[in-house]
Amino acid sequence: MCAGYDPISEYKQKTKKSAEWFQTASKHLPGGVTGNVKFYPPYPVYLKKAKGSHVWDLDGNEYIDYMLCFGPLILGHGHPKVLEAVSRQLKEDGTQILGAPHELEAVMAERLKRIFPFADAVRFTNSGLEATLHALRVARGAKKKARFAKFEGAYHGCYDEALVSLAPAVEFAGPESSPQTVSGSFGTSQSAIQNVQILPYNDIENTERILRAHKDDLAAVIMEPVQRGFVVPDLEFLKVVRETTRELGIVLIFDEVMSGFRMEKFGGASTTYGIDPDMICLGKIIGGGFPCGAFMGKRELMDMVNPATKPKEERVFHGGTFNGHPTVLAAGMATLDVLEEPRTYPYLNKISDRLRNGFNDLFGRMGYEAEAIGPGSTFNIVFTKGRISDYRDVTKCDSKTRQKLDFGLMARGMHLHPDKPFYTCTEHSEKDVDQTLKVAEEVLKKMKE
Ligand SMILES: Cc1ncc(COP(=O)(O)O)c(C=O)c1O
Repeated sequence: MCAGYDPISEYKQKTKKSAEWFQTASKHLPGGVTGNVKFYPPYPVYLKKAKGSHVWDLDGNEYIDYMLCFGPLILGHGHPKVLEAVSRQLKEDGTQILGAPHELEAVMAERLKRIFPFADAVRFTNSGLEATLHALRVARGAKKKARFAKFEGAYHGCYDEALVSLAPAVEFAGPESSPQTVSGSFGTSQSAIQNVQILPYNDIENTERILRAHKDDLAAVIMEPVQRGFVVPDLEFLKVVRETTRELGIVLIFDEVMSGFRMEKFGGASTTYGIDPDMICLGKIIGGGFPCGAFMGKRELMDMVNPATKPKEERVFHGGTFNGHPTVLAAGMATLDVLEEPRTYPYLNKISDRLRNGFNDLFGRMGYEAEAIGPGSTFNIVFTKGRISDYRDVTKCDSKTRQKLDFGLMARGMHLHPDKPFYTCTEHSEKDVDQTLKVAEEVLKKMKE
């Protein structure tokens, strides 16, 4: 299949200015990018401007955007209500940042507590990475234990401990039922690796067994309730993780940086599945397209960072010059306002289903063993016969065929990140989706030639 079709040549043909800029950028930035994930071979497409669901590259090519900055732009690019909120905030404050506590911090915190009612308090950060880092430190401080558990294949940000067993080569990662810790980056210290216990996602029996075996040294379990935004949990599995951590006195942290506000309804995966963790980490969407994160949780945990009540010797450090930035929070509030309108989620679900089901119809009709999987406004395309229930299943997918589809789509006006999930937004129209499916059909046909 697809031996003769070369979509990468089509991509190169169309993106000559990106190729040139890649050379320039690479003189100054390793790989021509500011984060490793943003590079893909032969070179990434460099964007110039955007509006709604569309983006334009350096060659002036127009694309329908399904990358949406890896998720935050759920209202698309430059939503008027977000832009207006940002300029109003700047004008009213008379400065970019007040630099001292301000009203919007508590206003936004109160709003997040209403959305996630199990939580009593919130702290803001500048990224999802910082949110998970600080949540873990709070849990460790509260439990006076250094170790925590995470699931194989989960991403919680790019610091040493969070990267452990993010994408291990399966042959070095031990048995599926008892995954071993594998460093996620060259340069990681042994102590960081030793602090992490790896669990098998969606595997009730072995997760419970490992947690019980390590109950005395684990401060927390951190998990993406929907792993990588598209591997959905069995409800029973989530329930068992919740019940077991509660019974063993281990803090359960839901990392909803990705799943937050991207499920079928307003809220997070915790809202959808009806399971309250002890802490939640948020990011991406709550900053309305600006750098943001938050961690929130029960009073006794969040009080660990409370300088008004906790003596310094027992306090957990939390800081950040730009935490709770007013412009960012204004953008986040405006985004939540639009998301909370009654018509938003029905539309977002309708448009996401149209695209996801459209891909699945094409795969079925054209004889591809592939599926578009994932909840709400995020899905991924996997070329596989089997069910995807964890990281190891994902590694068995046919990534070469996926790459052909990705570059074929990009060469025909769809902006996405190869091998990564697709994100939809409120600005995607039925016309956008139908155009995408038409193009996908062309590409899938060529791949059969
Ligand atoms: C689940 C999850 N946690 C944490 C992060 C880190 O967020 P940030 O890139 O804002 O640091 C990400 C980023 O993609 C994520 O998907």
